[in-house]
Amino acid sequence: MCATTTSLIFEAMRQLITNIKQLCQVEHAGDPPRNRLAGKDMAILPSIANAWLLVENGRIHSFGEMSTLQEQQADEVINATGKFVMPAWCDSHTHLVFAAPRDEEFVDRIRGLSYEEIARRGGGILNSARKLNAMDESELYDQSLLRLHKVMAQGTGAIEIKSGYGLCLEGELKMLRVIRRLRENAGIPVKASFLAAHAYPVEYRDNKEGYIDLIINEMLPRVAAEGLADYMDVFCEQGFFGIPETERLLEAGWKHGLKPKIHANQLHHSGGVEVGVKHHALSVDHLECVGAEEIGALTGSTTMPTLLPGAAFFLGIQYQPARSIIDAGLPVCLATDYNPGSCPSGNVQLLLSIACTQLKMTPEEAINAVTINGAAAIELEQEMGTIKTGKRANLIITNPIPSLAYIPYDYGNNAVERLILGGSK
Ligand code: NIG
Ligand code: FE
Repeated sequence: MCATTTSLIFEAMRQLITNIKQLCQVEHAGDPPRNRLAGKDMAILPSIANAWLLVENGRIHSFGEMSTLQEQQADEVINATGKFVMPAWCDSHTHLVFAAPRDEEFVDRIRGLSYEEIARRGGGILNSARKLNAMDESELYDQSLLRLHKVMAQGTGAIEIKSGYGLCLEGELKMLRVIRRLRENAGIPVKASFLAAHAYPVEYRDNKEGYIDLIINEMLPRVAAEGLADYMDVFCEQGFFGIPETERLLEAGWKHGLKPKIHANQLHHSGGVEVGVKHHALSVDHLECVGAEEIGALTGSTTMPTLLPGAAFFLGIQYQPARSIIDAGLPVCLATDYNPGSCPSGNVQLLLSIACTQLKMTPEEAINAVTINGAAAIELEQEMGTIKTGKRANLIITNPIPSLAYIPYDYGNNAVERLILGGSK
């Protein structure tokens, strides 16, 4: 694997990238604004061949064909001969803050136990919660920062991270404070989702109502008062949080200004998609178990269908019906779901390979799903997701590669040579 360099742009710095083989995902000043792509439009990735791009003060200043490049003053000139340049990935669904891997459960699953059986035995999310609550905040931060740097080296330039392994007031606050520190220090935009409703803690096994009350009456007010979360998440699933519980939680989240972004229809046709749409969720995520009814519910809504095929791959369950969703005229967002149980990888390039080979998305659709649509799924569409004058210059420069399709084709390898970061402010 090639080493990736990451460079942060400082005040008053100008970087000129020249001889770009293909500048992908461009939006021109006069074009109608594109906040997200749906249906047939997902197949189109507007690009300029043999291009240049100028970054100034961390923002995209201008770009065009090499034939239009005029004399420019620049602090650094990067010759991108043979290389592609595109917006950095926006990974809109991760659980990157966790204390330890769960490789022993991986082996249990190989031997025949299901994800749900492991959860019923007190493993899974509860296993991660025990380990997280035993770890101090600074160690949790150090480990999480290492993970974040690793995915940035693979092209991630904005990320959403969830709580949900605390499952008690102190544990949830600890996770959210770690996410806040990551946001302050990582150099990329970081959004936080509050996911105390990830699993019922053992002590509430026979008092589920009591745990919902704890989330609503004690955790949410503290999380909101400290401004620790952007979104409200619930693992809406049979055996986890049902429809009535999800509705109560989403209503309570809204009262504190937290938009819903929920786990839905991973293991069953649970009604999660419908409840997400009803409560104006920004996105409904997973969607392995989705058919005509759920597609019907999404049609006409602003809720983004976010597919997490890395989790389906790793759990060996059915993949999401991306083609039916796109063919119905809907948008599709892809995200990694990076977590220690169902997807211990935050590598977006691997996600692209799975989306192309298993979900039958074209490389253009898959790249749209992790750039423009990924940005929309975390409300960063004004800042990221396309190459547009004024947007934050969080950019990928690839190795020399023959084509765009080569990125998902060359699976398991890192096509990213350099990540340019225009800062996080
Ligand atoms: O998105 N399904 C719920 N939550 C995570 C998995 C969490 C875990 O197993 O630790 C997911 O797959
Ligand atoms: Fe998840």
